[in-house]
Amino acid sequence: MKKEIELKDDEYFITLKCVFGFEETLKEELIELGYKEVELLNRAIRIVGTWRDVYFLNLNVRCANSILVEIDHFFIQTEEDLYKRASKIGWTTIFDVKKTFAVKGAVFSSLFTNSHYPFLVVKDAIVDAFRDKYNERPDVELKRPQVVFDLYIKEKEVTISINTSGVPLFQRGYREAVGEAPLNEVVAAGLIRMSGWDRKTTLLDPFCGSGTLLIEAALLASGIPSNIERQHYAFKNLKDFDQALWDEIYNGALRNVRSLPCKIIGSDLSDEMIIKTRRNLRSMSFGRFIQTSVLPFNEVKKPDDEKVFIVTNPPYGQRLEADVTELYDGIGNWLKHEMTNCEAWIITSSEDGLKSIGLKPSKKHKVFNGDLECSFRSFVTYEGSKKIKENQ
Ligand SMILES: C[S@@+](CC[C@H](N)C(=O)[O-])C[C@H]1O[C@@H](n2cnc3c(N)ncnc32)[C@H](O)[C@@H]1O
Repeated sequence: MKKEIELKDDEYFITLKCVFGFEETLKEELIELGYKEVELLNRAIRIVGTWRDVYFLNLNVRCANSILVEIDHFFIQTEEDLYKRASKIGWTTIFDVKKTFAVKGAVFSSLFTNSHYPFLVVKDAIVDAFRDKYNERPDVELKRPQVVFDLYIKEKEVTISINTSGVPLFQRGYREAVGEAPLNEVVAAGLIRMSGWDRKTTLLDPFCGSGTLLIEAALLASGIPSNIERQHYAFKNLKDFDQALWDEIYNGALRNVRSLPCKIIGSDLSDEMIIKTRRNLRSMSFGRFIQTSVLPFNEVKKPDDEKVFIVTNPPYGQRLEADVTELYDGIGNWLKHEMTNCEAWIITSSEDGLKSIGLKPSKKHKVFNGDLECSFRSFVTYEGSKKIKENQ
């Protein structure tokens, strides 16, 4: 798509980065948000859009980690070419010398023996541009920079972008309390969408921990942007930040909010976790409509509704201790006997656990939760579903 497209003056290539395995899910979300031309990349999606789209997407997209706006794209033959080309970018027009900045990204190139070096080269080009013009330089801040640039080098091809989000978008701003092995919010939103939940059927998470899946499901079903509570966006620190446009987009984002159209139920063995979930729900408009209780999963009864949709993240036996085989065997029995006529989606990194469930998955996706490779599988149970010995 990229080569054939002629950008208009106010248009840019916008790259939305996501977690491995969620590319198709993010693509589907963007199509739902009205973006028809989307290009699938590795751990990312690219679209063409304006700064209005950049503000809109930072606020509204649930399944992306960060949003990049391309400012230059070129080819180099030697290491030295990187500094020469990077020096031509109008850095001093992008941000003010008083703001802190960082250059991050990824380098896959045999032109550089040290893969960290290209970041220093671009940092030097930025600093020198300010020194030449103002005799002053902006400070580098790696932890919480105000302005973030993204450098991506694949062999001789270089792309330099502004990371308009700054700290990753999973930092939603709503979570006060986290559990021991919490799901990242972007992954939780991605799993809910990947599961194909219709946003109407009762949703249940019997291993809810601090409630990430429950909250992301409720935000989606209520039409509330996941980032509505987030204050920090790196684009607000750019010279051309348009406060009036941001206010318009922010105020417009609540136009589609509706009251929660379904039941959402969470439980966990640990009372500490349920206290955390309730604390997280306290500030949410839908908080009091989400039922939570302290219960082992196998004591959770099917609510009276005809159908229940389960999305859950049980212990994997890696970060949390558990007898995995027994636990997953129990989950299989509970699904078969108690949760009949249901669809259950389970994410886990435990292969032994998956084998022990003893039900045949109807769908499966490979995804990552942090650096753990996981499988996200659905099990559909009917009246009289039978356990099987081996489901691989
Ligand atoms: C991986 S954590 C879930 C994290 C959650 N998705 C979040 O984002 O906070 C697994 C949870 O299962 C709970 N748990 C362990 N054994 C259980 C059992 N037998 N019944 C119900 N919950 C259990 C733990 O207390 C823990 O909170």
